[in-house]
Amino acid sequence: MSLFDKFSTFLEESEPLLSIKPDIFGTKIEKLYSSTEASIDGRRVLLAGTNNYLGLTFAPECIAAAHKAIDDEGTGTTGSRMANGNYDGHRALERELAEFYDCATGIVFSTGYQANLGTISGLVGSGDVLLIDAHCHASIYDGCKLSGAEVIRFRHNDVADLDKRLNRLGDRAQSTLIVVEGIYSMLGDTAPLGEITKCKQKYGSYLLIDEAHSLGVLGDTGQGLVEVAGVGNAVDFITGTFSKSLGSIGGYCVSNHQQLDVIRYLSRPYIFTASPSPSNIASARAALVLLKNGNALREQLWEHANKLYSHLLGLDLDLGPEPGPVIAAQLDTTEEALRIWSSLIEKGIYVNLIFPPASPKNKPLIRISVSAAHTEEQINFICNTFSEIM
Ligand SMILES: Cc1ncc(COP(=O)(O)O)c(C=O)c1O
Repeated sequence: MSLFDKFSTFLEESEPLLSIKPDIFGTKIEKLYSSTEASIDGRRVLLAGTNNYLGLTFAPECIAAAHKAIDDEGTGTTGSRMANGNYDGHRALERELAEFYDCATGIVFSTGYQANLGTISGLVGSGDVLLIDAHCHASIYDGCKLSGAEVIRFRHNDVADLDKRLNRLGDRAQSTLIVVEGIYSMLGDTAPLGEITKCKQKYGSYLLIDEAHSLGVLGDTGQGLVEVAGVGNAVDFITGTFSKSLGSIGGYCVSNHQQLDVIRYLSRPYIFTASPSPSNIASARAALVLLKNGNALREQLWEHANKLYSHLLGLDLDLGPEPGPVIAAQLDTTEEALRIWSSLIEKGIYVNLIFPPASPKNKPLIRISVSAAHTEEQINFICNTFSEIM
């Protein structure tokens, strides 16, 4: 009996997947040519599996801001927000995010994962209830575990099921936090936020929405689903990440409940970790300005997303229910998912290959993500390549 016995079992069961080249679970980007092109396994490929929705990783404004921050403040903070890692830039970005959402306050975390972990476990404790959509991201599930609260899942995007479960909770519904996502990371579908908001108001519960994949993508100023649904004031907490449309690393929570600030003293994922580096903060701040004024980028992104979605639907792929920058095809077998992924790489396109339990419905997924930085030719190339291999 050893600690490593479970690893042997895992390695034996996963051997067919782990031996594939290039490595599907750790694809090595050897060289980056731009936000949409790189070299993998000695081959130049088009990147269609990043979360770089606005293509801002190479925006000159962001690069210049990051360079200046390194020159002025060094490479890292070497400490927690609670100690020596709380710089002017962190505070400024918190104010800018709160202002962006027209909220009373905001907190910056070291990653989007920690934003969910730290917000949920900071707000909710034993005796409280968490009611989460079944398709929520692992960071939300982990935040729930860390909170010590009772955790109940409701069926994905099923408001009747949410209502039924809130009803059953009786008075406890008033100390319940409902958690949903703006755009769901795996199938790319959106939450029915208007109805969910009405439901939470009916029972006096609280609502948190993770806009990780919708920030910069949805709404006139890019706030996310809250802006499209017009329910900003009715949502209690908004979390998100800098690692997708903002092209950096870090995460946030904003709220009109000023009490959110108290979690700075209580939330372990906020306290017991080093704060984001000055250059990450500086590039995220520069990207937020571009994102707010990024209507042209959003238009380009949606044009690409609509075109690719309707093309793939025409090839009879089993896609998520609506077009968007995350376009996922659900496959029946691992073999078919592998065949598509490998054929795409051979033909010069990188997409994500995701297996259960990370993918929903126990089915493997080919997940494509679109960027405003893709050219029309690149989108046509993806469409034509899928036509060839399907
Ligand atoms: C819905 C959702 N929330 C949070 C995160 C975590 O973000 P980060 O990569 O910044 O830790 C992700 C990342 O994939 C995500 O998809």
